[in-house]
Amino acid sequence: MDAQHYKMNGDPLQESMYIEEHANRSGVISLIFSLKEEVGALAKVLRTFEEKGINLTHIESRPSRLNKDEYEFFINLEGKNVPALDNIIKSLRNDIGATVHELSRTKKKDTVPWFPRSIQELDRFANQILSYGAELDADHPGFKDPVYRARRKEFADIAYNYRHGQPIPEVTYTEEEKRTWGIVFRELKTLYPTHACYEHNHVFPLLEKYCGYREDNIPQLEDISKFLQTCTGFRLRPVAGLLSSRDFLAGLAFRVFHSTQYIRHASKPMYTPEPDICHELLGHVPLFADPSFAQFSQEIGLASLGAPDEFIEKLATVYWFTVEFGLCKEGDSLKAYGAGLLSSFGELQYCLSNKPEIQPLVLEKTSVQKYPVTEFQPIYYVAESFKDAKEKLRKFASTIPRPFSVRYNPYTQRIEVLDNAKQLKNLADTINGEMGILCNALQKIK
Ligand SMILES: [Fe+2]
Repeated sequence: MDAQHYKMNGDPLQESMYIEEHANRSGVISLIFSLKEEVGALAKVLRTFEEKGINLTHIESRPSRLNKDEYEFFINLEGKNVPALDNIIKSLRNDIGATVHELSRTKKKDTVPWFPRSIQELDRFANQILSYGAELDADHPGFKDPVYRARRKEFADIAYNYRHGQPIPEVTYTEEEKRTWGIVFRELKTLYPTHACYEHNHVFPLLEKYCGYREDNIPQLEDISKFLQTCTGFRLRPVAGLLSSRDFLAGLAFRVFHSTQYIRHASKPMYTPEPDICHELLGHVPLFADPSFAQFSQEIGLASLGAPDEFIEKLATVYWFTVEFGLCKEGDSLKAYGAGLLSSFGELQYCLSNKPEIQPLVLEKTSVQKYPVTEFQPIYYVAESFKDAKEKLRKFASTIPRPFSVRYNPYTQRIEVLDNAKQLKNLADTINGEMGILCNALQKIK
């Protein structure tokens, strides 16, 4: 589940699915704590917050993955009274015996945020989701449908319990779900030959041939993940709820794409307020099978590892204007490669009309561009090619203040961290050594 805020298929966005790490800007602090399943346990905790005058702005619960006797609570609170919060956290830990994780809080300056070094460490994110996928907002088309809500919980549970290396559980989709998929599939497919980029159109028939892409069949994530691995090493991983921008982008560094598995509500087949399987499979998947695009996507992920918060925001914006809403040049014409466009019947036509403003992709500018989330984009950025976009991204990444550089080793599936100071010293030693050889050679010539 990806990219900050979503709008789909031309209808207004009603829910943001990808919460930014916002503690530094809006003062909101997120916490997860777990409690033993006892009557009154939560009430006791809430009273503590109330007594200290701390206002909770969001709360939700889910069964604990680590301990079956416990429940986890995810809360957002206003972070104005930090000393009081410190006392509360202490009391939760000492007096109530709760396990507390702080997800967002102003970090100490000059500390490098934690990032995963191996692909297995992405498992940690399953426990750090900012919202459980089964929770729906009151204006969600499926909010009043208990059957749909129960179904969403089934999908959330699959993802919540998923661990790296396991096959993604197969889902038997209902006839109604298949009908919804069929409508979206049929409508979008009529636009692809004229509106989608070459890479999308090139890969799509392969997905039909090898991954069960059909109007009457919702393909399985596991089949697609295997297919992508043979093409580019990209793989899918089911996700239970909202991930922070930092966590979501970190997945890309390992060529892992966090994907939803549920489908939108049947009452509005051409609308979803959040990413769903139609968006992932029709929008994202075909591009991840393209080597150049895969490399570009991974570069965004690598740039994000250990980056300061303000750069995470910039990278998430770059992701928005490329992977989600990017256009590219094809000869004299423009085509869509962004998944938000390729999965939206309305915006796919609009983005190539003469209505929106078209700008060249210049990351210094694109990364700070504000964008609306409840309507079609007024501005799209055009990439010359994925190779060009990747080069620009690398250059942009070199401006991120990190005392190290990172490299992904596809054989070990680990991130290699290279100390910049040590590298510079090695380079200086090499130059010194070669200068010495050169001087000796010159002396001999003399
Ligand atoms: Fe997306």
